[in-house]
Amino acid sequence: MLGNFTYCNPTKLYFGKNALDGLKEELPKYGNNVLLVYGGGSVKKNGIYDKVVKILQENGKAIHEDGGVMPNPTVEKLNEGIARAKAAKADLILAVGGGSVCDYAKALSVSVHCNDDAWDKYFIRFEEPDCDLIPVGCVLTMVGTGSEMNGGSVITNHAQKLKIGHVFGEKVFPKFSVLNPEFTYTLPKYQMVAGIYDIMSHILEQYFSGTDDNTSDYIMEGLLRSLIHSANIAVENPTDYEARSNIMWTATWALNTLVAKGKTTDWMVHMLGQAVGAYTDATHGMTLSAVSLPYYRYILADGLDKFARFAVNVWGVRSEGKTKEQIANDGLQAMEAWMKKIGLVMRISELGANEEMLEGIVKSTLVMDGGYKVFDRNDIRAVLKASL
Ligand code: NZQ
Ligand code: ZN
Repeated sequence: MLGNFTYCNPTKLYFGKNALDGLKEELPKYGNNVLLVYGGGSVKKNGIYDKVVKILQENGKAIHEDGGVMPNPTVEKLNEGIARAKAAKADLILAVGGGSVCDYAKALSVSVHCNDDAWDKYFIRFEEPDCDLIPVGCVLTMVGTGSEMNGGSVITNHAQKLKIGHVFGEKVFPKFSVLNPEFTYTLPKYQMVAGIYDIMSHILEQYFSGTDDNTSDYIMEGLLRSLIHSANIAVENPTDYEARSNIMWTATWALNTLVAKGKTTDWMVHMLGQAVGAYTDATHGMTLSAVSLPYYRYILADGLDKFARFAVNVWGVRSEGKTKEQIANDGLQAMEAWMKKIGLVMRISELGANEEMLEGIVKSTLVMDGGYKVFDRNDIRAVLKASL
């Protein structure tokens, strides 16, 4: 049965080859000072930075730069950005980049006018913002996280060996996001497939939970089939617009809160992946792919019906003459074959994790209670060992 819920998504999207024109429509709504946030330089190489700056200049904005946001943005960078945004008296934070840049922009948004320590307040105590927020807009260049249309913000604290995500409410969602699939063409293949798996994982985190008949599960099966189909094409031909645009749109739907409404969700793959990330600083999507199959095989008996449904409805497994266990296992086998085919990382040791780190990673893993099995430290250790 669907639980009760409220649904509102305030992010305005501009999608397609001319999506950047949306920025011209949005800019007049905000004050003069724009904090232009971007990553390690890809946007300068591929020309997206120049296009954005031109539009900002044409609209008479004062541009205050905040570049160098690293993948898996750190608390040190956040604190530096807070000071920069304060000095700039930023009226709008414009994030041009991937999930890291968008997440960082949201973390800045809630922190600049807040007197508390941002890390402690939002990522340790999980408080909601009680200060003025700076509006955020995104020009997305990397597909996967869904950060363009949600309140998620993930920050890494290397000193504390923690990578923590805070899922903020609607008022922290980007006010607008520009989604041009062509802006993702310059992504290295490793990043493209990591993003594809991040999308798959977001869907599975919300699919593998509950036993009721729920519309969201049917939507998610459709999203997964589209993703698998388009990923197969994009891996062969990265400039196939149809495939890249479908992947981009699927990413947004996978984590813009809609499919989670009225149902329980899991998120243990992300908790395991984030703990691995805190120790290795590895690419987010690859930390998820490396722990996923050991995790799903570990909990398969607890969610057997859903795993069998997944096998048939998503992977086209034939069920005749097979037990439910066989069907479910065949589904995970089909998923494994596909993951290997598109070039995903299948073990955390490939990301630099090792036996010595294991206990630390076990400790850093947060436990969620919405999936088919509520984990204790022994369960976490067993899955991580199987992922090594
Ligand atoms: O830094 P630059 O030079 O821009 O290079 C980036 C970066 O090295 C590069 N890149 C991005 N767009 C490109 C490009 N290279 C060439 N051409 C382009 N068009 O790609 C690399 C990865 O970028 P990043 O932003 O780190 O990737 P992603 O979008 O996967 O974001 C990862 C972060 O998002 C968090 C992750 O934990 C991680 O910190 N997540 C955020 C979520 C949310 N907001 O809801 C949910 C996710 O589960 C995830 O946890
Ligand atoms: Zn993710």
